[in-house]
Amino acid sequence: MNYPIYLIGYMAAGKTTVGCLLAKRLGWHFVDLDEAFAEIHGLTPAEYIREEGIETFRRKEKYVVEDLAELPIEKVIYATGGGYPCWEDNMECLKELGTSIYLRWKPEHLAERLMLTDLNERPVLQGRTKEELLQFITPQLEARTPYYEQADYIIDAPVKTIAAEDDQHIAEILYKLILNS
Ligand code: S3P
Repeated sequence: MNYPIYLIGYMAAGKTTVGCLLAKRLGWHFVDLDEAFAEIHGLTPAEYIREEGIETFRRKEKYVVEDLAELPIEKVIYATGGGYPCWEDNMECLKELGTSIYLRWKPEHLAERLMLTDLNERPVLQGRTKEELLQFITPQLEARTPYYEQADYIIDAPVKTIAAEDDQHIAEILYKLILNS
């Protein structure tokens, strides 16, 4: 498996939580690309999208990923922003830079997980009920799927009821995958 590793997937797929757990277990570095974006630009992705719009955000987000890839550290797990792989040639870039792993969930489970988070941090989802979320997620996930499924590995999330337990389970699957490849 080539380093670094990029976790990709829809919002609330667990990229950050799983990435953090996995990096700790492996003794690797962990970088949340939304957080890196906020450090570099002084605004969170949500704030930036509100102020500058999605197109400008996507262009800047692309530079953040590519600039960080220049750093001379290899053993890094990156959690990408949910829409990053679906913009221009970003998926091809990820595949050239390292190994991409898609954390795949069904829309109904993503909606449940999203309801446990602060939707104000996600401008496009703000103020929606669970049913409205599902109506929004289903077509967007369908449109994003052809990009996500280009990942080097696809992990189907095991569905239980407690989000934190699910994330630990996924981290465990990825740990074994990395050690054995
Ligand atoms: C986005 C997902 C967010 C963040 C931005 C846009 C998206 O990241 O990059 O708000 O379009 O799916 P997370 O997937 O980490 O929530």
